[in-house]
Amino acid sequence: MPTATVPSFAKINLALKVLHHRPDGYHEIRTIFQTISLADRLTITAEPARRTKLTIDATIDIPDNIILKAADRLLDKLKRRAQVHFLLQKRIPMGGGLGGGSSNAAAVLLGLPPLLGISPPATVLHEIAASLGSDVPFFLMGGTALGLGRGEELYPFPETPVAHGVLVLPGVHVSTPEAYKALQRTTETPFPNSFPLSTWDAPHDWRTFSENDFEGPVFRLYPKVVDAHTALTNAGANPTRLSGSGSSVFGFFESKSAASAAAKRIPGAVLFSTLNRKRYRLAWGRA
Ligand code: C5P
Repeated sequence: MPTATVPSFAKINLALKVLHHRPDGYHEIRTIFQTISLADRLTITAEPARRTKLTIDATIDIPDNIILKAADRLLDKLKRRAQVHFLLQKRIPMGGGLGGGSSNAAAVLLGLPPLLGISPPATVLHEIAASLGSDVPFFLMGGTALGLGRGEELYPFPETPVAHGVLVLPGVHVSTPEAYKALQRTTETPFPNSFPLSTWDAPHDWRTFSENDFEGPVFRLYPKVVDAHTALTNAGANPTRLSGSGSSVFGFFESKSAASAAAKRIPGAVLFSTLNRKRYRLAWGRA
């Protein structure tokens, strides 16, 4: 049976602003997504069949598996039937604000069609991705991108130089809906309804305007996240930020060696580098 092993990279949010609560129940956000080198590996084995059968083996137990959901929606939309088996080697921690599940879903949308000899239009993939989760469409693109709407409306940023960082995972699970609720946003649209204009003028300068609105409530509710933030800052990271709604915290360093030295001093820390669109596509091309 045709088989491919594809990468499923994690993301961080270089900046994240939450605006108003929308009538559809989601929040309007402004974010800068960035793919990083930390990745799961997904092996997909597939062939057309009379009846669809989807199975999965994973290195950890994943409830309500988004991989199977993505495959099901894709086959349904394309009116295809297939026998598909997934083997997931999980490295991206769950509930860390690193988009692990969303990235896995996008890996299915990108990796499964070629094995079945089909190439769905990008608009169809985007539509299925957005139906699976707000962060999923970003992983069809990778690199650095501005995310608007609920995060699914994407604008690629110019490529930025590779940066080296360290992730700290405090070992607590932050529920995304709860974190949004804790922000207590109303339905009133704030003004100005945007990032600072400098975002557009100098996107590579994101360090100067980087912020994450979730830091207030998440730091208040989870002291372990504050400890992780403090450990990174004390190790010389600049800036140090919560990713998504947490619980992971990342920090950037001047060089790979400085990041590596800091990672050695913080128990459980993970070294990473940013992955631009070109490298993201190359990794996919190779797979
Ligand atoms: O889209 P996704 O399934 O990732 O969202 C999970 C939950 O997070 C939503 O049900 C909603 O409560 C919250 N959310 C939100 N606004 C967003 C994204 C997510 O309120 N822009």
